[in-house]
Amino acid sequence: MPAASDIAKKRARACAALLRQVHAITAPEGITPSALHAIKLRLVALAKRAELFPLGDFARPEAQGRTHPLLVEDDDGHGLYLTINLPGKEAAPHDHGIWCVNAAIAGRERHVFYRRMDNGKTPGSAKIQRVGEVMVEPGNGMAMADHDIHSTEVVGKEPAIGLALYGYALARFPSVVWFHPEFSSVRALPSRRGAMAA
Ligand SMILES: [Fe+2]
Repeated sequence: MPAASDIAKKRARACAALLRQVHAITAPEGITPSALHAIKLRLVALAKRAELFPLGDFARPEAQGRTHPLLVEDDDGHGLYLTINLPGKEAAPHDHGIWCVNAAIAGRERHVFYRRMDNGKTPGSAKIQRVGEVMVEPGNGMAMADHDIHSTEVVGKEPAIGLALYGYALARFPSVVWFHPEFSSVRALPSRRGAMAA
């Protein structure tokens, strides 16, 4: 069995290789639907290498979910994380303001996608419509463009463990907008990008 530090080194190399692939994909075309799809396939391939992500290296959350940085690029680049979400964890529909790709290592998380139906001109009010869903489970992933809207729910009795790649590091996230379809309401959290620019 390889030593723990060997695994950590292999993991770091694999994560760096993934980010190089991501930049090779986006350099010619930017963040397009086809680029996001290609990135998703790469992330799914990395997530299949479960031996690189032994659970002992990543503390479990005490409740809800926990995010471990794997590779956060300098200069306002991308952020790659390992996420652990406990059974039953849910997130209401939200828009990250930045693209995101997920791939499962273990467990199952249902992602439901929505489309905004109103014109956004009434403060605090929004109408969204469900347009589809994806089960993020081993061998599968999902990709979202900058302003796509999703909700999430861990299903089954196992934690959902996966890789998450965001266009920006979590510490430099733009405003995340939360929707509450039953009240036709919307609220935006403060952006974290102002602090970075200061
Ligand atoms: Fe999300």
